[in-house]
Amino acid sequence: MKIIIVQSYSEMSQEAADVVTSIIKANNRAVLGLATGSTPEGMYVELVKRFRNGLIDFQEVVSFNLDEYLNLPPDHRQSYHYYMKTKLFDHINIRPEKVNIPSGSAENPELECSRYDRKIIEAGGINLQILGIGSNGHIGFNEPADALSINTHLVELTPDTLQANSRFFESLEQVPKKAITMGMGSIMSAKKILLLASGTGKARAIKSMSDGIVTTAVPASLLQLHHDATVIIDSDAAALL
Ligand code: GLP
Repeated sequence: MKIIIVQSYSEMSQEAADVVTSIIKANNRAVLGLATGSTPEGMYVELVKRFRNGLIDFQEVVSFNLDEYLNLPPDHRQSYHYYMKTKLFDHINIRPEKVNIPSGSAENPELECSRYDRKIIEAGGINLQILGIGSNGHIGFNEPADALSINTHLVELTPDTLQANSRFFESLEQVPKKAITMGMGSIMSAKKILLLASGTGKARAIKSMSDGIVTTAVPASLLQLHHDATVIIDSDAAALL
């Protein structure tokens, strides 16, 4: 695992956008694994800027998002569908049929999970997986647990995550208690992984994901086993390293 420490959130976002840009320049049909949350927002702003300046073309790019809340309609302002549409997809030329996000409103969520895994395989797997990290060490919505799932699955969010994500909702009660998330298998099968983190709130998670021990209590620690995982963090997130 390669750790790059930068001075600021903006530097982190620029460097992350550089990685995405070079992946797409090397392969205009690249398959991107995308993340939501506040961390990658700056990277998306930068990618939109580069698209507008003609520096990057998303025409043939395929995307798979990591996760989605269960039973939150796609047009709900806190759904990850809405996030991706408003922060990225509405502003670039990615083709709608090449965009994939798990459907949290599918009639049969289990079927939706297996459909999603099949689509990732049919697309040839993920070239670059972007990740944020929860303050409890989760990635996607793979929460700390005794065992972690390999495939896309339904997950019950932990009290930590409900609390952390309640800042986006009017109250804690409104945060959906369940979500669909890509499993550790799909994430670890990505050819390249880029994890971003910023702020002191992530310092403990960053320390425990990179201290040489792999444990399902810190799902992100499994990334230490990946052959091409890069972590770009600002100095606050690196405070305990
Ligand atoms: C959410 C998402 C994750 C994200 C994490 C951190 O729970 N499911 O994909 O990485 O929170 O979010 P933030 O970047 O807002 O701290």
